[in-house]
Amino acid sequence: MTETTASKNQQFFNEQASSYDTRHQKTIDQLIAHIQKRKDFIGARWVADDDENDDGSHADGKPVRFLDYACGTGLVSRALAPYTTQCVGIDISENMVASYNARAQNQGLSKDEMHAYQGNLLNKEDPNPSSLSSADLFNFDVAAVGLGAHHFEDPDFAARQIAARLRPGGVFFIVDFLPHDHVDGHAHKAAHTVTHHGFSEERVREMFTAAGVGKGFAMVEMGSGVVFAGMGKDGKEMERRVFLARGEKESGSCL
Ligand SMILES: C[S@@+](CC[C@H](N)C(=O)[O-])C[C@H]1O[C@@H](n2cnc3c(N)ncnc32)[C@H](O)[C@@H]1O
Repeated sequence: MTETTASKNQQFFNEQASSYDTRHQKTIDQLIAHIQKRKDFIGARWVADDDENDDGSHADGKPVRFLDYACGTGLVSRALAPYTTQCVGIDISENMVASYNARAQNQGLSKDEMHAYQGNLLNKEDPNPSSLSSADLFNFDVAAVGLGAHHFEDPDFAARQIAARLRPGGVFFIVDFLPHDHVDGHAHKAAHTVTHHGFSEERVREMFTAAGVGKGFAMVEMGSGVVFAGMGKDGKEMERRVFLARGEKESGSCL
């Protein structure tokens, strides 16, 4: 079988899944706090702690459904679970998906509240796989990619594919690295799965606009540098500047 960026990622993250949370615990906690602090910046219609009904729906009766693409073990889902009624993950790595679901189950969450599916929406030869075609995997209020875009062959195509899963007016956001030197990148052990060495604001704005989610585009740096243990040269720490960018799906967008 030909090796693709997708298959390299699937294999690498399958190997990483069982130790991912423990190895990156500090970074994951840091990023969850950063995302939660910026929930108003993301600007979706969240469930507020004090206006949730007993069944978990929003006080206005409408659910707040969140799609976490390239969800991994669920970093972004965990950050947003308090403000949404449903988190749905999709990831190409079956082992990352298994970790996501085991964690959700251990927390006593039902499948309707938090559940991930194995799959890939980024294969241009099969952009609408039947396993990810059911109606409940569309019309999300919010969709995000956390630290996934730099692993995608074509992040612009990815943004379009994920935006297509949003309802009109829904919010899309990504968390990723600002442009960085890739000298140490060639040495770290995930290097063969990395396709992009960070993204500039201009690049991300173009990506969002072309995907029909450029309305109200805004980008912010999160903290001064996020440390990833063991990901640098010779297993050392790797420090990256991380951004969060958001935009809304144009109501008339048919992308
Ligand atoms: C660095 S991890 C980030 C995981 C999680 N979002 C987080 O922030 O911890 C990148 C994830 O992207 C997933 N991934 C890579 N290519 C993908 C694709 N084409 N479709 C879905 N997931 C993909 C990997 O399996 C991996 O779980």
